[in-house]
Amino acid sequence: MKHLLGIKQLSDEEIEQIFSTAQQFKEVLNRPRLKKVPSLQGVTIANVFFEPSTRTRISFELAAKRLSADVVNFSASTSSVQKGESLLDTVENLLAMRVDLIILRHPHVGAPHFLARHVKASIINAGDGIHEHPTQALLDAFSLLQKWGNFQNKTVAIIGDIYHSRVARSNILLLKRLGAKVLLCGPPTLIPPPFKTLVDGVYYRIEDIIERADAFNILRIQKERQKEQFFPSLQEYYHYFGVRPEVLQQNPSLIIMHPGPMNRGVEIDSKVADSEQAIILEQVENGVAVRMAVLYLIAGG
Ligand code: CP
Repeated sequence: MKHLLGIKQLSDEEIEQIFSTAQQFKEVLNRPRLKKVPSLQGVTIANVFFEPSTRTRISFELAAKRLSADVVNFSASTSSVQKGESLLDTVENLLAMRVDLIILRHPHVGAPHFLARHVKASIINAGDGIHEHPTQALLDAFSLLQKWGNFQNKTVAIIGDIYHSRVARSNILLLKRLGAKVLLCGPPTLIPPPFKTLVDGVYYRIEDIIERADAFNILRIQKERQKEQFFPSLQEYYHYFGVRPEVLQQNPSLIIMHPGPMNRGVEIDSKVADSEQAIILEQVENGVAVRMAVLYLIAGG
């Protein structure tokens, strides 16, 4: 692997290798002491974030540090981007300081692909606009594999703002490759027609998917990307599409997932988020192991 730009660019063998390597790194992370290996000693990684992030940025930073790499963090809001410097010039300057690998989060679709064409370093897509978030999909699938072993006869429902979600696109592409069924559910205005051709069913009422699904992956309403009004109000959204505690009683084996950040009381009720059926923090935990695997296979494996 030279880059990780999206799910489509990964072969089945590479996906399998990421999961098996992540499993080994999970064991390292679960050690009582010395949660660290020397695999990427001498490698320098830059976390280049043009959008806010808690999980992805810190998870990549910890993953790099657990592999003994050197890490620098770049935030557009406190950089010379504010003085008009371009993405390419910014990254060329980082590479001149002997950075080996760039992890990029950017609001524009295709920004990591553009960089991969124009610079020599390896590029990892940490989220490009509404397009893809491949490591989120990999950690989501890895978390489900920890529970189920495989995706045979398993159905994952992705619920909410599909339109603006890079997580939805990457999850659909990966889950279908792994053999799962994928359903979408949300307001019709937030499920664009092209998505309907990629999945096994589209539903507009939570009640219709409770017993059809083995896992709910619940997405945030991405207000910051919405340029128009897609539904009347957040209260009305919660009324129709918020995942509430009754769902857990109706399907006691249903797994509840959320990529974060969560808006409690909008797309998910607090009792659901904090329930025994939720694996939201396990997703975050597995994210470090999966990102260690990706960094290792790109930069050192
Ligand atoms: N899931 C995810 O991408 O979260 P952050 O925006 O906090 O990185």
